Amino acid sequence: MAEKVVAMVMAVIVCAVVMMVPEVDATRYAVGGNQGWSPNVNYTIWAQDKHFYNGDWLFFVYDRNQMNIIEVNKTDYESCNSDHPLQNWTRGAGRDVVPLNVTRHYYFISGKGFCYGGMKLAVRVENPPPPPTASPVKSASPSPIYSGQFVLPAVFAIGALWGIVLQFWYW
Ligand SMILES: *[C@@H]1O[C@H](CO)[C@@H](O)[C@H](O)[C@H]1NC(C)=O
Ligand SMILES: *[C@@H]1O[C@H](CO)[C@@H](O)[C@H](O)[C@H]1NC(C)=O
Ligand SMILES: *[C@@H]1O[C@H](CO)[C@@H](O)[C@H](O)[C@H]1NC(C)=O
Ligand SMILES: *[C@@H]1O[C@H](CO)[C@@H](O)[C@H](O)[C@H]1NC(C)=O
Repeated sequence: MAEKVVAMVMAVIVCAVVMMVPEVDATRYAVGGNQGWSPNVNYTIWAQDKHFYNGDWLFFVYDRNQMNIIEVNKTDYESCNSDHPLQNWTRGAGRDVVPLNVTRHYYFISGKGFCYGGMKLAVRVENPPPPPTASPVKSASPSPIYSGQFVLPAVFAIGALWGIVLQFWYW
């Protein structure tokens, strides 16, 4: 009997995990990709094919001795003025995470002169699209990591459930 209860609890946990996975679709964007937050990237081009949704994150990796990450308004973004920061996201390690938790435009620049060389990023944060109805796999972001994350627990869950079914069968 105890075994049966354990099996049921396991099944519930596995199902919960599987159902949770499609919800965990907030994206953490490594700004500039492999190049990070550096003077050699055009961040307008980097951002133009991406959708930023409320709940996503920006991850800035940079040389902490040289650059920083300052959030400014549109005017100061355009003129590279870091004298009136809306927020100073620089924490000192050269690896800063910025939550995009409001649907609005965000403007980031690096102070210390690097903004003039192109270290400026503007993103528009949108509301997430409505959850998919027909298919649990989000078609808007066909990332292999995402589908792997989904398929693996699903296979695992089906296997676990099948095991429990068999267990009841032979009880
Ligand atoms: C940005 O801030 C500066 C300095 O505080 C201000 O002069 C400017 O009008 C602001 N621009 C916008 C678009 O809010
Ligand atoms: C931002 O914060 C960091 C860490 O607290 C500090 O060293 C730096 O001077 C600040 N920069 C600006 C422009 O406020
Ligand atoms: C967004 O995140 C910032 C930084 O963590 C926090 O200070 C702010 O309260 C958050 N805003 C909302 C609307 O959750
Ligand atoms: C980045 O690319 C855009 C589009 O090609 C261009 O308009 C802009 O001037 C470039 N920015 C920099 C800093 O080179």
